[in-house]
Amino acid sequence: MRHDRIQKSINAYLCRNVSHIYARLDIIQSISGLILAAFIIIHLLLEASIIISKDAMLMVSKFFEGYYFFGEKYPGIISFLAAAIFFILIIHALIALRKFPSNYRQYHILKQHMKQFHHSDTHLWFYQAVTGFMMFFLASVHLYIMMTQPANIGPYASADRIYTDWLWPLYLLLLISVVIHAGIGLYRLALKWGIFERNVHGNQKYVAKKSKINRQIFKKIMLIGISLYVIIGFTSLVSYLKVGYEHRDKAGERYESIEKEVQL
Ligand code: HEM
Repeated sequence: MRHDRIQKSINAYLCRNVSHIYARLDIIQSISGLILAAFIIIHLLLEASIIISKDAMLMVSKFFEGYYFFGEKYPGIISFLAAAIFFILIIHALIALRKFPSNYRQYHILKQHMKQFHHSDTHLWFYQAVTGFMMFFLASVHLYIMMTQPANIGPYASADRIYTDWLWPLYLLLLISVVIHAGIGLYRLALKWGIFERNVHGNQKYVAKKSKINRQIFKKIMLIGISLYVIIGFTSLVSYLKVGYEHRDKAGERYESIEKEVQL
């Protein structure tokens, strides 16, 4: 009885001094990560419209410039969207920074832990940290271009940027890092918020076994998703390169102007 009372007063004391800031930061990081992952899932599919045809890609870019709503193109919409995504990316990266090893000693300890535990989820965290670091620099260049040159998006404009302006190595690295980062991120998010344990009832042993099976299934889904998106992204990058190569002597000319000529 006395022991219970002491325990209660210790708990009350600890709760009074606990800061909620870390929990809040974790929630902001999860939500911003979810928004960015959803954005990338849609973005890579829309941008793959070039695999279908140049006209399909033109339609997508016109849609985002508001052409089908206002009857006129407003590239400012793309600048606004890119700035909003940039803002979310910065918040997401700033919050993630606190978990990075801040000096060589911490990095060394992390490496040793990874070796000792030999647990695949710890390795996943490490891959996510490395791809996140790469992605922040690569995505910043891309987003800056999208913000400042929103009118320069289209079958020829994009292909010329990728082939003639040599943006393809950056896009290749960005593609690999963003797809791995988002895939692992979604898996870890499900793990963190207990998706694997949800709706699993029974004794402790059964719940542990079932959540392990769920986790393995989700890991397979993650690997399939990552592979699928790398293939889609890679195929669209090759399609842009092909269009850019064929258009290299007329780089700078817009696809829309040719479309108008044909109509006349
Ligand atoms: C609103 C913001 C964004 C817009 C308007 C946008 C638009 C585009 C466009 C038009 C392309 C085709 C190439 C070009 O024209 O340069 C492209 C390619 C790409 N974008 Fe974005 N993007 C945005 C944000 C992002 C973000 C935040 C990421 C990743 C963190 C990203 C990753 C990529 C990748 C990897 C490619 C190359 C994909 C491939 O074909 O392999 N984009 N983007």
